[in-house]
Amino acid sequence: MCGIVGYIGTKKASPILINGLKKLEYRGYDSAGISTIEESEISILKDKGRVKNLENLDGINNLKGTVGIAHTRWATHGKPSKSNSHPHMDNSKSFSVVHNGIIENYKELRDFLQNNNYKFYSDTDTEVIPNLIHYYYNKENNFLKSVNLACNDLKGSYAIEVIFKDMPNNMIVAKKDSPLVIGKSDDETFISSDIPALISFTNTFYFLNDTEIAVISKDDISFYDSNLNKISKDLTTVELSSDSADKDGFEDYMLKEIYEQPKAVRETIGTSLNGTNINFEGLSLSKDYLSTINMIYIVACGTAMHAGLGVKSNFETLCNIPVVVDVASEFRYRKPLINEKTLCIYISQSGETADTIAALKLAKSKGAKTIAITNVIESSITREADYYVYTHAGPEIAVASTKAYTSQIVLLNIMALYFAEILNSSSKDRIENIKKEILKLPEKLEKTLEDVSDIKELAKKIYSKKDMFFLGRGIDYTVALEGSLKLKEITYIHSDAYAAGELKHGPIALIEKGVPVISILTNPTLVEKTISNVQEVITRGATSIIITNQSLDCSNFDNIINIPETSALLSPIVSVVPLQLLAYYVSKEKGLDVDKPRNLAKSVTVE
Ligand code: F6R
Repeated sequence: MCGIVGYIGTKKASPILINGLKKLEYRGYDSAGISTIEESEISILKDKGRVKNLENLDGINNLKGTVGIAHTRWATHGKPSKSNSHPHMDNSKSFSVVHNGIIENYKELRDFLQNNNYKFYSDTDTEVIPNLIHYYYNKENNFLKSVNLACNDLKGSYAIEVIFKDMPNNMIVAKKDSPLVIGKSDDETFISSDIPALISFTNTFYFLNDTEIAVISKDDISFYDSNLNKISKDLTTVELSSDSADKDGFEDYMLKEIYEQPKAVRETIGTSLNGTNINFEGLSLSKDYLSTINMIYIVACGTAMHAGLGVKSNFETLCNIPVVVDVASEFRYRKPLINEKTLCIYISQSGETADTIAALKLAKSKGAKTIAITNVIESSITREADYYVYTHAGPEIAVASTKAYTSQIVLLNIMALYFAEILNSSSKDRIENIKKEILKLPEKLEKTLEDVSDIKELAKKIYSKKDMFFLGRGIDYTVALEGSLKLKEITYIHSDAYAAGELKHGPIALIEKGVPVISILTNPTLVEKTISNVQEVITRGATSIIITNQSLDCSNFDNIINIPETSALLSPIVSVVPLQLLAYYVSKEKGLDVDKPRNLAKSVTVE
C-alpha cells in the first residue's frame, strides 16, 4: 500500500523517480507525486490518478534536482485528491516527506501541532510528519535529531523519505513495519519500497531494520539506531534479473506471470527438493520438536490463505497432525488456542501484509514456533518469524496473485513431505511417489499453457454475465475459492464458490437460466459426486463449465476444459491455471485494467 522511491546522485532525479514509481504502481494508484531539491529550493508536483498523469504535468521537465523523493498512493486517510497526495510539506515549506504506512496516533499529533499553531491542508495522517520534524528542528537545529524525535512520536507503521531545503545534498530515510530498501551503486543511492523497482539500476542493497534511520548523501550513507548510535551495515547482493520486473513482451504483467508458472514452480522445487532429497536451508526442526506438535495453524490472507487451504489435508494425511487454516485478520483477534506445542505457518507473497505479520507476532508471544513462507527477499515477515523459507516465483507485479499461489502450494507440499520424513508418519513409497509427481509439475504446467484458445472463446461467451459460481469438492473446492476470487477482483463480476455438496442447502436458489457454473473435477474418488451436483444446476438452466483431468462423458456439459492429470494432492497447481486465464481474458473482453484493478493494491500493509 503506497510505494515510495528516492534518488540522490549525479543525474536528474525526476525521470529516475518516475521510472521507479511506475514499477511500484502495483502498490497503489490513487495519486502520485514527486519532490526534488535544487539550490535549496524544494519543488513539488503531484496529482490524483496514476503515475502517467504525473508524468504529463506541466513543469515535470523543469525539475532539474539530483536529489528527490516520490510516492504512489493507495488512499487510507483522506480520499484520492491532489491535496491528499504526497509529498507533504511542513508549514514553513522546509521539509518534504513521502510516507508509506499508517500513523495511528495522527489525530493526537495533529491536535498537539495545532495547539502549537501548525495548520493542516490535507486529510492525511502523513501531514503530521513534516510538521513534527519542523517542530523538533526549531528546538534542536539538527536534521537527523529532528527526524528521529518525530519518528519516536509516531505510533503505527512508516517508511519515510525526508528532504530538507537547508541540507540540499542529503536525504533521511527511516522505517518501522513498512518496507524500505536502499540500493547503492558507485555515486548514486536509490531508495524504494521494493527491490524490483531498483533492479535495473543496481543489485546491491542495504536493508534497514525497524526504527533505524539512514542519512544519505551522494557519496555516503550513515546508519543509526533509534537512539542515534551509529551502526554499520553490510551491502547485500541480490540475484534478480532486470527483465524480471518488465512485461517481457506480454500485454500485461498478470499474463506474463501466469506464463511464468512453470519456471516459478521449477525454481521453487529446485531450492528444496533435489532429486529425492529434501533440504530446507535454515529450517532446522528436530524430530523431538516436531513430535511434540499437536496442531498446525496455517495463517494468511486472500490467495495466500487459499494456498493454505490447498495443502491442509496433505499436511494432515502425511504428517498426522491436525491443521487449521485461518484468515489472518480473524486469527489475530479471536484468541486462538496456541502454546509451545503449536506450529504456526504464515504465507505471504509480499511478506508485508499487516494482518499476517500481526498474527505471527501473536503466535510468537504465546510460545509457538513460527515459519514464514514469502516470495520477497528480506521482507518484513522474515524478520519476525523464527524461520522463513522463500518461494522462488520471482517478482509478482500484477495485483492478482498467480505464480505466487502455485509456488506456495508446491513449497508447502514439499514441507509436508519433509515433516513426514522426519516424523516417519507416512510410508517411504508414498513420499517418494509424491516427490516424483512434484518434479513433473513444471512440465504439466507448460502443457496446460500450450493452447488456451478454448479459454479465450469461453471468455467471449461469458464476459457480460452478472454472476458466476464455482463448485468443487475437497481440494477442488479450495481451487474454486481461488478461481472465484481471481474472477471478481479483476472482472468486477460477482462470483461465489461453494463446496459442491453445500449447493442444495441454500445457494442453488441463485441458479437460473444462463448463469455460468464452473466446476473443478480432479479427484477421481469425488468426481461422480460432483457431477451429480453439476447435473442439479444444469437442470435449473445453468451454463456448465467443467475443468477436469478425468475422462468424463462430456455430452451433457456446455464447455469442458481438459488439463493434465496429477496426483489428487497436487491438482490445485494445475487446475487453477485455466481459472486464472479465464479471469484474465474476461477482464480483457471487458476492457479493464487487468494489472491494476479498482480499489486494490498489491501489498496490504494496513489492517
Ligand atoms: C489476490 C491477492 C490477495 C493476496 C493477499 C495476501 O489475487 O493477491 O488476496 O493474496 O492480499 O497478500 P500477501 O500474500 O502478499 O500476504
